[in-house]
Amino acid sequence: MKRFAGAALAASIVAIAANGAAADEYRMGLITPPPHQWTVTASVVADEIRERTDGRVDILVFPSGQLGNEAQMLQQLQTGAMDFAFFTLGEFANRDPNYGIFLAPFIVDDVAGARKLLKGETAQKLLDGMADFGLAGLGWGMAGMRMIVTSHEVETVEDLKGEKIRTIPFAPELAFWEELGAAPTPMPLPALYDAFANGQVDGMQIDVEGTWNSKYYEHAKSIIISDHMMFPMASIASGRKWAAMPEADRAIVEEVFSEKLDGLVAGYADIDADYRAKLETTDVPVKDVDRAWFGPAVDAWYARWREEAPMLKELEAEAAGM
Ligand code: BEZ
Repeated sequence: MKRFAGAALAASIVAIAANGAAADEYRMGLITPPPHQWTVTASVVADEIRERTDGRVDILVFPSGQLGNEAQMLQQLQTGAMDFAFFTLGEFANRDPNYGIFLAPFIVDDVAGARKLLKGETAQKLLDGMADFGLAGLGWGMAGMRMIVTSHEVETVEDLKGEKIRTIPFAPELAFWEELGAAPTPMPLPALYDAFANGQVDGMQIDVEGTWNSKYYEHAKSIIISDHMMFPMASIASGRKWAAMPEADRAIVEEVFSEKLDGLVAGYADIDADYRAKLETTDVPVKDVDRAWFGPAVDAWYARWREEAPMLKELEAEAAGM
């Protein structure tokens, strides 16, 4: 059952009536719209946790940034005004560059590589480090591999020079586009369709799923499947609210998040392929490019980020050993 903000009260009453114990209502926020896999997964997680805790842990999902952007949600998580979230890495990487290392270009080839790295030691260290932000880290998800959509035809990477390319406000993404000579333009996801349609940006770094669901292709002349970065998602809880939750319920919540997040990550191999096939049914040419296509920008990015983020070298070593 998909249950977003509206049906909360009724379900709580049902839970109380069924169990004779008050249901604790929790709020989970995320920026993705209802059809996005993150939102679908959040809803599945909430349903399973409600069922397995006999309604004691009742998570209400607020998609599409209804609780605010990630900066605003982070504050609410820190004060305990909200409880759970799926976040991009932007807020963390802008406070501690080590959280940007997963954005290392071509650190993995594909979703399978990303899945391994997200289960690795470095990923676990970063998850544990969420405590420094007043959060509890519940696991890593992802939104597939990054690709590029532009409003004009792009043959070589030179065609991207000087172009306004939408990124998220995320230092490692900005750095990559600066190395390419483009003009990275940070912009939150909900503003993107209009900005692309009216020419405020010339292109975007985005996910395959979003390109189809949000119809960015409608104003595109090139769809470039570059798979140049993985795009992890941090699943987090308010540290305060987490500490106050009974241990037995915490164990159930952890188990459900962990299992569903792994399913989400693994599923992106097919999700990316399915949405690519859908994009190929449009009039917009879809082309594949590889690391060499990007020229010296990739090595330049590494030279800069090895200095900025010491944990990058650990992640590179892990990736090399996979
Ligand atoms: C984005 O801002 O590009 C994005 C955010 C969350 C999921 C997928 C894409």
